[in-house]
Amino acid sequence: MAAAVSDILRMTFSLLLLMLLTLCMKSIKLEAQAGLLASDEAEALREIATQVGKMDWNNKVDPCSNETSWVTPTSSQRPMFDNKVVCNCSFPGGVCHIVAIFLKGQDLAGSLPKSIVKLPYLKNLDLWANYLSGTIPREWANTKLEILSVAVNRLTGPIPSYLGNITTLRYLNIQNNMFSGTVPLNLET
Ligand SMILES: *[C@@H]1O[C@H](CO)[C@@H](O)[C@H](O)[C@H]1NC(C)=O
Ligand SMILES: *[C@@H]1O[C@H](CO)[C@@H](O)[C@H](O)[C@H]1NC(C)=O
Ligand SMILES: *[C@@H]1O[C@H](CO)[C@@H](O)[C@H](O)[C@H]1NC(C)=O
Repeated sequence: MAAAVSDILRMTFSLLLLMLLTLCMKSIKLEAQAGLLASDEAEALREIATQVGKMDWNNKVDPCSNETSWVTPTSSQRPMFDNKVVCNCSFPGGVCHIVAIFLKGQDLAGSLPKSIVKLPYLKNLDLWANYLSGTIPREWANTKLEILSVAVNRLTGPIPSYLGNITTLRYLNIQNNMFSGTVPLNLET
């Protein structure tokens, strides 16, 4: 009889433990899911990586997790080096959007990423000091960039007047490239 009671007690206890564990795991899972990057923006980042030639972003971890492939701590010894994807996770429902990308001194040898147009919240793009070549993509006319630097690269062609279509732009740095022609009138002010 005593044995049976203790058996029941033990079973009840195990059951309670199991329930507690399940609850814990559920809340951990919920926490991990909160503040994730919208999946279309994650896809855009994969396209951008291919376009610029960025090999070391770790697509297995969320770009907004601050994991080191997405945010490499900057060092004062190497101010020309900056590898950072910045998210804003304060949107309704805890959804994150990419607001800035810094890829300075990353030895990137691809082209300017036309897929940034798929990041509608991107305000700041800094591709300073790489080996990027080609021209400025037409797609960029439809971005909402505020700060743009493509300085110190190997860009060619005319400076396109459609840069003037980025009406939100406050700062533009395109110096130290191999652009031809003159600065379009609509960019001079
Ligand atoms: C990542 O870093 C930024 C800036 O330091 C911070 O606001 C954000 O909460 C961090 N995100 C995570 C998931 O730790
Ligand atoms: C993040 O986005 C929210 C919602 O649009 C905005 O209110 C907030 O100012 C943004 N935070 C930063 C640091 O840009
Ligand atoms: C820039 O804006 C002008 C005027 O709205 C428009 O005609 C032109 O197609 C735009 N250029 C690009 C590349 O989107």
